[in-house]
Amino acid sequence: MRLDKAVALAGLTRSEARKAIAAGRVQVDDQPVRDGSMQVDPRQVRVDGVQTVDAGALYIMVHKPAGVVTATEDRSLPTVVGLLPPTLQRRGLGPVGRLDRDVTGLVLLTTDGQMAHRLISPRWKAEKLYRARCEGRLSEAEVEAFERGVALSDFTALPARLTLLEAGDDCSVADVILTEGKFHQVKRMFAAVGHPLIALKRLRIGPVALDPALEPGQWRYLTEAEVAALRKQCQL
Ligand code: URA
Repeated sequence: MRLDKAVALAGLTRSEARKAIAAGRVQVDDQPVRDGSMQVDPRQVRVDGVQTVDAGALYIMVHKPAGVVTATEDRSLPTVVGLLPPTLQRRGLGPVGRLDRDVTGLVLLTTDGQMAHRLISPRWKAEKLYRARCEGRLSEAEVEAFERGVALSDFTALPARLTLLEAGDDCSVADVILTEGKFHQVKRMFAAVGHPLIALKRLRIGPVALDPALEPGQWRYLTEAEVAALRKQCQL
């Protein structure tokens, strides 16, 4: 929402809001902002240091680059939470599931523990869509194997939908949709059918897709429509 509208939520008229912004009394993410047309999350807005609306749960998407760990802190490696500005790093955000260090793409961060739990639990059937580049030529045989459920050493994966995008002698590209997320699961499934992974990127969690405008390392707040869609997915 526009900053001047967010400031008006504090009980100011539109003209009082504009004056407060022009006078430098309004901060977004603890930084003074003088552009009333800027798009903001109203929960991050303060007028004279006072929050204008109840700071409900936070919902953020991050485009995770390779080399970053899906954690809130780490002794030696950069973390997804470390990609956020310092004020947001202290807000108790946690990742919804994990991506391996070398895996890229969509990570959701939230303070809403119940939603995070439901998005990762197979019981709530939230789909995770990955784009996979693997060794060798994929064929209908692998599509069928994924659909039946790939047997791994310690469990059999739930049926997964594999869509072939490119099939070459050296490598192939496919989209795969899972509703569970055990340790290294996609890598293990491809290895088990004889096509070790070369690269993996997550493109979607439930109804929320990675924003193509986000470069690796960038983040943004989820829109109200995205949060509503996640709530519906999780029956919250
Ligand atoms: N499957 C994997 O093997 N790694 C991930 O990071 C996510 C899914």
